[in-house]
Amino acid sequence: MSNIKIGGVGAYLPPLVVTNNKISELVPTNDEWILERTGIKERRISEGENTSDIATKASKLALERAGVKGEDLDLIIVATITPDMFIPSVACLVQSELKADNAAAFDISVACSGFVYALETAKALMKSLDYKNALIIGAETLSKVVDWTDRSTCILFGDGGGAAVLVRDEKQGIINSYLKSEGKKGDALTIGAVDFNTPFASEKNIKNKNIVMNGREVFKFATSAIVRAIDGVLEGTGISLDEIKYIVPHQANMRIIDYVARKLELDIDKFYLNLDTTGNTSSASVPIALNEMYEKNLIKEGDKLLLVAFGGGLSYGATIIEW
Ligand code: UT7
Repeated sequence: MSNIKIGGVGAYLPPLVVTNNKISELVPTNDEWILERTGIKERRISEGENTSDIATKASKLALERAGVKGEDLDLIIVATITPDMFIPSVACLVQSELKADNAAAFDISVACSGFVYALETAKALMKSLDYKNALIIGAETLSKVVDWTDRSTCILFGDGGGAAVLVRDEKQGIINSYLKSEGKKGDALTIGAVDFNTPFASEKNIKNKNIVMNGREVFKFATSAIVRAIDGVLEGTGISLDEIKYIVPHQANMRIIDYVARKLELDIDKFYLNLDTTGNTSSASVPIALNEMYEKNLIKEGDKLLLVAFGGGLSYGATIIEW
């Protein structure tokens, strides 16, 4: 069997629910503003579980549903911008927890577009290296990097993780991807890392290690990037938007999705949305949504879904999958 499909999905959200009202105790904001401007009502926030803990829990569920054991995995890719550490990668931490001793494991950093990028990366590696099973994870603890004094960003983000197990199949379950980046716009959304503060540095370069975002810039980018990604991923496949049962977008802001729906003249119900309860979980948002759709029995064998994401980098991309 030379083709590849998703054999199982799973997700894990930390139990603590943080409502908009709770955030209004921290910064000058209110439930009405947040709901109207973003569509978010509440998000889950980790009380200490790190990205690898969340990723492992999501993965165990996905593996169980796919009927694949840790030892049968050839590849683990984690898309994250909030790793536990620089080394080891989250993927290696997950590998250890799952006893997936036969796998190659690494992280990718593509911010909110990470899961879509990981899916296609895994498909390509499975084909070139003849792997049978791969585990793809999007997991984040964004609460670690949120500036909890900045009302323009701290209202947006949540923690969580989602995972998908890729298996061999007769049919092609991952039909096509479209992946692009616009590095020249990178300043619109940043999280600093280690300062360049050595005895040899000509000038100290101290960066803000929290999320800093130009919301309007990202908003503008997102609305056009989503449309380009949807057009781009359909092109050459012979598949029309009518044949797509659901568009599963990165869950960042309801107004972004409303705009795209109007632009493409699509019913808003064609988009699967759960950002009211999750907030923006970056690379985890698409697999968390997929898991919810699976658990709600919304997707049946043969259904075509279009996953589309955008975010830091700036980056964007889309993938068409058949369930
Ligand atoms: O996955 C990463 C992708 N990131 C995104 O998708 C973010 C895209 N951008 C957005 O979602 C929106 O730009 C935001 C939700 C971040 C902001 O909404 P906006 O409609 O663009 O608001 P704004 O930044 O233009 O601010 C409008 C006003 C300002 O007040 P003044 O200057 O008009 O007096 C802000 O200070 O709203 C104020 N404001 C707030 N007020 C109450 C900003 N944040 C808040 C807040 N509560 N939390």
